Amino acid sequence: MRINIVSIFPDYFEALRLSLIGKAVTDGLLTIDAHDLRDWTHDRHRTVDDTPYGGGAGMVMKPEPWGEALDAMTASIRAAREQQPVPDRPVLVIPTPSGHSFTQQTAQELSACSDLVFACGRYEGIDHRVAEWAAADYEVREISLGDYVLNGGEVAAMAIIEAVARLVPGVIGNPDSLVEESHAAGTGHLLEAPVYTKPAVWRGLEVPEVLLSGHHTRIAGWRRQQSQHLTRVRRPDLLT
Ligand code: ADE
Repeated sequence: MRINIVSIFPDYFEALRLSLIGKAVTDGLLTIDAHDLRDWTHDRHRTVDDTPYGGGAGMVMKPEPWGEALDAMTASIRAAREQQPVPDRPVLVIPTPSGHSFTQQTAQELSACSDLVFACGRYEGIDHRVAEWAAADYEVREISLGDYVLNGGEVAAMAIIEAVARLVPGVIGNPDSLVEESHAAGTGHLLEAPVYTKPAVWRGLEVPEVLLSGHHTRIAGWRRQQSQHLTRVRRPDLLT
């Protein structure tokens, strides 16, 4: 999987060099390249924003630098695909609070893609014509991380990239851990039961006895019941 990111703060994505995602990059399972949107400006101030048509507070990202940046991404993807053809269209992800909700299902879908490009907006967002124009070369997905507002798309893109990249085959050493966790497809969408490790008594607090029993059926039953209880209390929306 190739991931390209365009942002006015490409340094945000340095953190992707750490941990399992960083190792996947080193191992050649993924490429991640973060680009500075201002490289596609041509004025002295490297301007990327302007006032909104129709009035209102805040600034809007100008379409011209975005158009040139995405042209460059498209050209580099085309060149890579000439070496190694793939059948799927590249996907342009635009993190925005007005996007479709990001879920584990979205992460699964994106993890099967050969090329992801992230367009990280700031201010009040990117001139909408950029998404319209990009639809000629990309499957465009406007995605929201949740019902709250961040200062820009960078942190949302980081979260999406981590959720997606860990599903790419080979990135997580033990694929069984992907199956059991909360929100995994096929668990009936229940939250995961609490977990414990040694020592069996810590500061006077005991691990639930059933987990020490070695009785696999009872343990599975306890975990299922805990999952159902937690989901009912914390996330009743998942049960409907
Ligand atoms: N940009 C700003 N807020 C966001 C959110 N909630 N999700 C995705 N991108 C965003």
